[in-house]
Amino acid sequence: MFENKVIYQIYPKSFKDTTNNGYGDIQGIIKQLDYIKDLGVDYIWLSPCVKSPQKDNGYDISDYYSIDSLFGSNEDYEQLILEAKKRDMKIMLDLVLNHTSDEHTWFAKATNGDPKYYDYYIWADEPNELESAFGGSAWTYHEKVGKYYLHLFDKGQPDLNWANPEVRQEIFDMVNFWIAKGVEGFRLDVIHLIGKEPDKLIKGHGPKFSEYLKELNENTFKDNLLTVGECWGTSLKQQYKMCHDKGLTQAFHFNHFLLNAERGRGKWHTKELDLVDLCECFNTWQNEYTGIEALVMNNHDSPRLISRWLDDQKYRKESAKLLITLFGLMHGNLYIYQGEEIGMTNAHWHDIKKYNDVETFNNYEILKSEGYSEEETMAKIAFTSRDNARTPMQWDDTAHAGFSSTEPWLDVNDNYVHINVLKDLSDDNGVYKYYQKVLKFRKEHYDKLKQATSYSSEGQVLKMQNDFFTLLANFSAQNQPLEEINGEIIFNNYSKVPTHLLPYQVIVFS
Ligand code: GLC
Repeated sequence: MFENKVIYQIYPKSFKDTTNNGYGDIQGIIKQLDYIKDLGVDYIWLSPCVKSPQKDNGYDISDYYSIDSLFGSNEDYEQLILEAKKRDMKIMLDLVLNHTSDEHTWFAKATNGDPKYYDYYIWADEPNELESAFGGSAWTYHEKVGKYYLHLFDKGQPDLNWANPEVRQEIFDMVNFWIAKGVEGFRLDVIHLIGKEPDKLIKGHGPKFSEYLKELNENTFKDNLLTVGECWGTSLKQQYKMCHDKGLTQAFHFNHFLLNAERGRGKWHTKELDLVDLCECFNTWQNEYTGIEALVMNNHDSPRLISRWLDDQKYRKESAKLLITLFGLMHGNLYIYQGEEIGMTNAHWHDIKKYNDVETFNNYEILKSEGYSEEETMAKIAFTSRDNARTPMQWDDTAHAGFSSTEPWLDVNDNYVHINVLKDLSDDNGVYKYYQKVLKFRKEHYDKLKQATSYSSEGQVLKMQNDFFTLLANFSAQNQPLEEINGEIIFNNYSKVPTHLLPYQVIVFS
């Protein structure tokens, strides 16, 4: 029921501003629904747009029930659900259930001595060695309470105590509120952390995790809605457990995103992509995993793959199409991140003043304290910062890329003059039109994508093969040898079939 779906992720702050305050809004999304639908989309996932002080861009929620005035109102959201439905698309809500904002009334009550709400969060007399994903200790001392509270992310994001049944009930009520409004899917933020046991230093996939997930499912979506968990670096076994037996439909594992990171040193210390590792990852998840994979090339937490793995300058369009073909021909549900459909690239800023992301700022300080020079630190940030993918959508070549008529909350990428929706759509060889074709093919031939498919590499060429087709992809700027092609060409990101594989060429034949 929930397989072979295409989900388009919107980062509302950066999509389309209709009120001219520099932030994208819900009316802006409504305005672009046809653009999204025409690509071949079934669901639209919106990153959080309920009330938040925006310390972590909405992933720090201060009121789960009200749309933040920055983005519009609950009525706007209801209109969005309706307008999407008219176009046969469903809305997927981002659920941040592991933590709230420190500005949520629950936290205010907890820190003002209300014992009921004190128990909604996690406290300790002394911090242990647990670390925050954004750098530094996961514990912050609260003067008024006289204790430390746990925050696996920023100190403005205190972790909820899922061991407390009252907390779980609050969550179920809130999820049902949105289901009643017509939301038909959920993305569950860092969901593997809800079963944490901080005393035992257990963060992800704790002993009670499956139980909580099952209880959430039984009390809310009841297997009737598409749900996707966010779980960085999960193993096959963990994934299977999470997605069977009344858990989630699927979960992002992101193992391929981690291939640029130096093992054991975290994402700020990077290395070149090795195709051998990439093929191993694809083989595991496409052939060994028996569930529905959540296929993903980009999101708001990761620098865009086109800039990390391929060439986002001279061969930008070819590179964008290479990735689209590769991921588009895998089985599972395909998640598209805004801008991917026109081949948007990373911002690569080398000036810390251009950034906005809390994780980037924390790690800027950490890298500097570890002895990296300003230049070295900024090189790491320019490659890895999440803001690379969060720059405003590039609609046209007018000021601020047609995103807003005023200075946006985060700068537009300078390349908007030649990379924008208007220009791409007017180009018969544009990325959007190519993506449309791949998605159409995917819908029509899905059963064939589900055949056992092998992934292998030879030098810089990746080969994906099953009984139905062969895909060859050149991950380099050099020509690569190509055997004679006898079958019918299904996809080709160049107009000719050459005697060699051209730079960043992808070719698929039967
Ligand atoms: C998830 C979100 C990310 C956020 C973090 C904390 O990873 O995708 O943007 O910063 O959770 O909520």
